[in-house]
Amino acid sequence: MTDSKNTILVTGGAGFIGSNFVLRWIETVGTPVVNLDLLTYAGNPENLAALDDDKRYQLVRADICDAEAVAAALNEHRPRAIVHFAAESHVDRSIVDPGAFIHTNVQGTYTLLEQARRYWSALDDAAKESFRFLHVSTDEVYGTLSPEDPAFSETTPYAPNSPYAASKAASDHLARAYFHTFKLPVLTTNCSNNYGPFQFPEKLIPLMIMNALEGKALPVYGDGQNVRDWLFVDDHCSAIRTVLEKGKLGETYNVGGNSERNNLHVVNTICDLVDELRPDPVIGSRRKLIKYVADRPGHDRRYAIDARKIANELGWTPSVDFEHGLRNTVEWYLNHASWIENVRSGAYLTWIKQNYEERIAQ
Ligand code: NAD
Ligand code: TYD
Repeated sequence: MTDSKNTILVTGGAGFIGSNFVLRWIETVGTPVVNLDLLTYAGNPENLAALDDDKRYQLVRADICDAEAVAAALNEHRPRAIVHFAAESHVDRSIVDPGAFIHTNVQGTYTLLEQARRYWSALDDAAKESFRFLHVSTDEVYGTLSPEDPAFSETTPYAPNSPYAASKAASDHLARAYFHTFKLPVLTTNCSNNYGPFQFPEKLIPLMIMNALEGKALPVYGDGQNVRDWLFVDDHCSAIRTVLEKGKLGETYNVGGNSERNNLHVVNTICDLVDELRPDPVIGSRRKLIKYVADRPGHDRRYAIDARKIANELGWTPSVDFEHGLRNTVEWYLNHASWIENVRSGAYLTWIKQNYEERIAQ
């Protein structure tokens, strides 16, 4: 790495949000990025194939739980900032196997914070002053809302309901503690549901696009009335760049899209878009493929984000509305058949069998 003063280290950069972030960072900021990623089932180096010959990008395959490997990457690449995406991120998987979430999200974040602290403590005063550790988190740490509740703000008490949310909440508390106790320059973002290119096809939006395209059942959990706030992934990436540049140390910033939609609305809209872009007389109207299946245990009813703090203090607002972002996303999946084929590995097929066979039988 040549321009080490400007290097940032990203964890989990081969995943959905991380890979969008790395691509956009190279395009807009242009300084070097080291991507520390274990390449689990969710990590796909093909997402970053456009950077294969770009000297500003380097992949280090390592586990955030491996203190030695993390220390070696920090000492070799001397980053000016760490942007921490790496996590187990799928709620349904956290219900099947919570242990993996505690390991990666809690132990892994602790290991990264501790190695970052050691590295940062040994920097000279100027480098110490400008160093940043940005912890990427979720709105799910705040729990669930009823229809009339106000949206989650930065002062909403934590009330995580799934093992995923609990593990992210624990990691947020660790990040907070490293700022308060050790003065490590930590920033935290809590964002709503992202959608866009490169999302692993077990999450709602890509799963529904792919199943609709192929005329397969569209499994809607429960009554389909659960509400999420949706943010186009590029907007999340720009929010993270903004917080990294201008955020106040030790603060948390909620990031959202002002786009609350219930799941049935999201699935119906996908059906209509796929009908329009890939009409199929044999399949007919994709809405007929919707199948109500057994609900997710402990399924949070509604998430909503009050993003006034990041707007008022840092000047960030989302730029893509949900209808445009969803159309753009459907088009991306329809135009990237080979990407879809490549991620549909054995691990993905095993998951689909494990998660849906029993639900559909009910
Ligand atoms: P993802 O599951 O698509 O990607 C996770 C990445 O982390 C993968 O590249 C994987 O290989 C890597 N990884 C997993 N375990 C690792 C380990 N032990 N060491 C190193 N790398 C490891 O996740 P995503 O959807 O891109 O989410 C990224 C971050 O953003 C997560 O921290 C998540 O909690 C947060 N977040 C996600 C959303 C969303 O809607 N997807 C919303 C808000 C916040
Ligand atoms: P998901 O993409 O897993 O994100 P999260 O649970 O983190 O919000 O799910 C989004 C919503 O869609 C959530 O309410 C669960 C629901 N859902 C279904 O109805 N069917 C599915 O097959 C999946 C994967 C999710």
